[in-house]
Amino acid sequence: MNQLQYLFVFLTLFSYISCEFNKDDVLVFTVATEETDGFQRYKISAEEYGIEPIILGFGEEWKGGDILNKPAGGWKINLLKKALKDYKDQNKIALFTDSYDVIFLNDLEKIVEKFKTFDAKVVFGAEVFAWPDPALAEKYPEVKEGKRFLNSGMYIGYVEQLLQLLERETLEDTDDDQRFFTKAYLDEEFRKDIGLKLDHKSEIFMNLNGAENEAQIIDVQTKEAEKYKLKNVVTHTEPMILHGNGPSKRTSLNYIGNYLPNAWNSKDGCIYCKIGQFELSQIKEEELPLVLLALFIEFPTPFLEEQLLKVASLKYPKNRIHIFVHNSVKYHIDHVSTFVDAYTPEYLSVKEAKPDDGITEWAARDLALDHCVSTKCDYLFVVDSVAHLDNPHTLKLLIEQNRTVVAPIMVRHNKVWSNFWGALTTDGFYSRSNDYMDIVHNEKR
Ligand SMILES: *[C@@H]1O[C@H](CO)[C@@H](O)[C@H](O)[C@H]1NC(C)=O
Repeated sequence: MNQLQYLFVFLTLFSYISCEFNKDDVLVFTVATEETDGFQRYKISAEEYGIEPIILGFGEEWKGGDILNKPAGGWKINLLKKALKDYKDQNKIALFTDSYDVIFLNDLEKIVEKFKTFDAKVVFGAEVFAWPDPALAEKYPEVKEGKRFLNSGMYIGYVEQLLQLLERETLEDTDDDQRFFTKAYLDEEFRKDIGLKLDHKSEIFMNLNGAENEAQIIDVQTKEAEKYKLKNVVTHTEPMILHGNGPSKRTSLNYIGNYLPNAWNSKDGCIYCKIGQFELSQIKEEELPLVLLALFIEFPTPFLEEQLLKVASLKYPKNRIHIFVHNSVKYHIDHVSTFVDAYTPEYLSVKEAKPDDGITEWAARDLALDHCVSTKCDYLFVVDSVAHLDNPHTLKLLIEQNRTVVAPIMVRHNKVWSNFWGALTTDGFYSRSNDYMDIVHNEKR
């Protein structure tokens, strides 16, 4: 044998001994019935780490009950049980996570490597609250460090033991999935039998609800641009999958998701904002999206004629635009009718609510939405009389962003005032995010 052959033999042996990680031995499952912003965020994070999830229930009607308001979600278990049966006698590992409120922060190899250190067959994420049955809290084994209670939004295990767990009892689609797993976990004999453990210290799974303060975004400088990592500053771990369970979606996950895993940095700006952007110039004029342009004149406004002229000057074919005007100011009746008379023949349609119609502002804003639905609009473009569209490409540029909602940011010079909130408290009130001042000062964009 020459040297190269020796090397080859050595490498082959080495790869056997080290049980090289094989992506095909790990199955990743999630449940999502429809395309939401949260689901897109989940998929982008998966792609970031080369993870290819199997998506259960997509395009189907959600059968898991009223999950927002009460215990429910058993359907997720029934879907997974069915899916796992196809892999029954294969010695594979399966990872299950929710999708709409989950972000991957590491790759499968690292996740599996960590899982193997638990000396368990199935590992669930842990959370701060004993939900949905707080009365069961004292039945849980005590823990010295970390979170004590099971959360069913993320778990990993060998297919064989996972099936034993999922088949432990039958459950209705509308039963609660977390209660189902909690019962199994609190059954000490069963727990020890199949080797079921919780990830108390968030080494793999981080459930944010009630633990928002534990999660900190750490900025790691590299040669190129900074990279962000998530640290649990209480248990000193770097969680690999993040779940915004309960209200923490709004109070914490959305904020973290603006940075992680690779959403923003100071060199490239908002990386995720660019995903999905497209150019309208590729679309034939008669196939351009239908827009309902809703104009609101709620109080006397200087330069209204100019403002309306700018609306009329938008570079977008008028025969793809329906106009809705709500004018509640008598003084502006003539200005509006000049605009309406001049352009009615060009727009697809023009609908006008005049001061004498006595429609309140809130009712008018609702009406605009109804009108959008009844005209089968693709987009609703709301323009108040105080907003001047100085750039005639505004509408086109906004559509090309390909977002569900785009709003302008408005600030007052030299004041800590803006039209947006960087974060929310748990009861939905204003809270200042760490990056709020940077955004208001246009240092982060
Ligand atoms: C809009 O974004 C979605 C999600 O990224 C993408 O699937 C879709 O193709 C985009 N639309 C266009 C017209 O490019």
